[in-house]
Amino acid sequence: MYKSIGSEDISFFESIVQERCFVDLESLDMYSHDETEDIFILPEVVLKPSSAEEISSIMQYCNEQNLCVTPSGARTGLSGGAIPVHHGVVLSMEKFDKVIEIDEQNYQVTVEPGVITEVLQNAVKEKGLFYPPDPASKGSCFIGGNVSENSGGPKAVKYGVTNEYVLNLQIVLTSGEIIWTGANVLKNATGYNLTQLITGSEGTLAIITKIVLKLITHPTHDLLMLVPFMDSEVACDAVGAILRNGITPSGMEFMERDALIWTQEFLNDRSILVEDNHAAHLLIEVDGFNPEILMSDCTKIMDVLEQFETGEILFAESQAQKDALWKLRRSVGEAVKANSIYKEEDTVVPRSALPALLNHVKRIGYKYGFKSVCYGHAGDGNLHVNIIKGELTDKQWNEELPIAIRELFTEVVKLGGTISGEHGIGLVQKQYMDIPFSEKSLDLMRSIKAVFDPKGILNPGKII
Ligand code: LAC
Ligand code: ZN
Repeated sequence: MYKSIGSEDISFFESIVQERCFVDLESLDMYSHDETEDIFILPEVVLKPSSAEEISSIMQYCNEQNLCVTPSGARTGLSGGAIPVHHGVVLSMEKFDKVIEIDEQNYQVTVEPGVITEVLQNAVKEKGLFYPPDPASKGSCFIGGNVSENSGGPKAVKYGVTNEYVLNLQIVLTSGEIIWTGANVLKNATGYNLTQLITGSEGTLAIITKIVLKLITHPTHDLLMLVPFMDSEVACDAVGAILRNGITPSGMEFMERDALIWTQEFLNDRSILVEDNHAAHLLIEVDGFNPEILMSDCTKIMDVLEQFETGEILFAESQAQKDALWKLRRSVGEAVKANSIYKEEDTVVPRSALPALLNHVKRIGYKYGFKSVCYGHAGDGNLHVNIIKGELTDKQWNEELPIAIRELFTEVVKLGGTISGEHGIGLVQKQYMDIPFSEKSLDLMRSIKAVFDPKGILNPGKII
């Protein structure tokens, strides 16, 4: 379908990016996968351009020559978006690593896509500013990947996800043209919203080369508590009750018993005593500017929690303890990965349907014989369902599990939800896109793809 890369192509690429053109096996291997399960597909060449103009020349050439291009960030994705399914070119954005301008006057930052999210957060924090979206991988993922996947994270419950901060993007089209999608303004009612169309498009429509983000004032204080529950569905119910009482925590994270136990083992941190009757925990954070108000928020949360059966609540007493608790939460995905072959689903439902979703997960697991470990952003109704291979045979894993996942996603959609809240569709979820979308909707998406990428050379094999 696509042309294989030959020596004349390599010569062209070298004329554009000089020594930043790699064909050695070690480099190809490094860019053959992201954090998605166990999928490895080698590209034929890895390019590391350092300007929009270089990318423009590469795209124009690849489009003419029918060579496919897979953009690649820090490869922390969980839906296979950066895997070069059809080999070809991997376009690594790692040289785009500059925070270009922090505009303190307008609360904006212009950044290149290869900046690590936490590096960006720290840079703006020095000026008292806050970029809230904080995926679990914030210490290693790139902001460009976050924009491409419309990433979320724990703070989304109060502050929203990536797209709520993206004001304007510089992109390179498959034709090689370089454009800006919008304007650096907080309000924009000017034409179709190309900025939001590119955000979350998983590198299938254009290459992002500059990002303008909205910032807010950085909160000065936070409090963190860990609440054990005897019943997982009750823990999910408590989330809604807290929000209905007028408190919006800056994090309301859910961890099933095994998620916490496995992560403690993985990190060799046994600081939390998980009692035999603890079925799940909520990690609840409040943040703001006034410590007294935060204390009063915590008191209100405790009052609400009195309606539910909970164990002894742990309040983090020091920054070190807060860091340790967040590290536990952020490491759940890695810990599960280290424990077993698994598949991670990223279901999301209206918050009040979370207990029902959890119930379906366990029921379907029982029916098909799989164990699952669930955790996630309960405040957003976003449940990560890790399905564990455990004792399942390869036949069950490969043939029956997709049927079980289809059944689960069908229930998710019936509950008013959808099949990915923040990890994207990429390669591994695209077979299920007919569940949340009608054929007409999928057709509209195919048409949009064709407008941006008529030859289908950009990140092929993803989403649709
Ligand atoms: C998390 C990632 C997996 O929430 O989304 O830990
Ligand atoms: Zn998550």
